[in-house]
Amino acid sequence: MLWKKAQEETHDYIIRKADPSDAAGIISCMQSVMDERIYLVGEYYLLSERAEQERIKSLDDLTLVCVIDRKVVGVLTVQRGIYRKNRHTGMLGIAIMAGHRHKGLGTRMIKEAILWCEDQGIKKLNLEVFSTNVNAIKTYEKVGFEVEGKRRKQFLIDGQYVDDVLMTYYVDKSLKE
Ligand SMILES: CC(C)(COP(=O)(O)OP(=O)(O)OC[C@H]1O[C@@H](n2cnc3c(N)ncnc32)[C@H](O)[C@@H]1OP(=O)(O)O)[C@@H](O)C(=O)NCCC(=O)NCCS
Repeated sequence: MLWKKAQEETHDYIIRKADPSDAAGIISCMQSVMDERIYLVGEYYLLSERAEQERIKSLDDLTLVCVIDRKVVGVLTVQRGIYRKNRHTGMLGIAIMAGHRHKGLGTRMIKEAILWCEDQGIKKLNLEVFSTNVNAIKTYEKVGFEVEGKRRKQFLIDGQYVDDVLMTYYVDKSLKE
């Protein structure tokens, strides 16, 4: 029943590729998640609106937004490796604003990103997540990401050391062997 209700609630959300005019909305969505302090490494979004507009235009990278009532409430980025040695990889980042989580939006955005990777020839999609972010890790595992390793005590959050969990989704399944 709860599942059905959440599905109905998501009808008003649109997930699409970002446009340069989304820059301010993206910055404020990212900043609001950064302000929560427990999910993302950065504390301040470092790009200006102008720089963000340029980043969105990059053909090598993907920026998806989730929009409701013209407000950006979710942002997903995939940054493709810039060298010949790592161009087959992408690095995923995602942030959904508080109040819009657990409605299936993150899962839908990640699945869209995987399709984009397939299309672009990206074979391995990576991400990093705090070991304390159990909800995110569960979401990634449900989509098919697997833990590749851990960088122990990589972060210090509110006086506690936290591991950096390295996860990967093999877009090209033959790489798994
Ligand atoms: C982590 C994050 C991206 C996940 O996105 P989300 O939209 O909240 O996740 P989903 O709704 O797709 O899935 C999360 C949970 O909701 C459940 N769910 C998915 N679709 C659902 C639906 N239609 N109805 C009810 N529940 C649903 C999933 O099964 C999952 O349940 P679980 O907690 O029992 O595993 C999001 O919560 C977020 O941005 N968090 C804060 C920032 C952050 O942690 N970013 C990642 C840093 S690495």
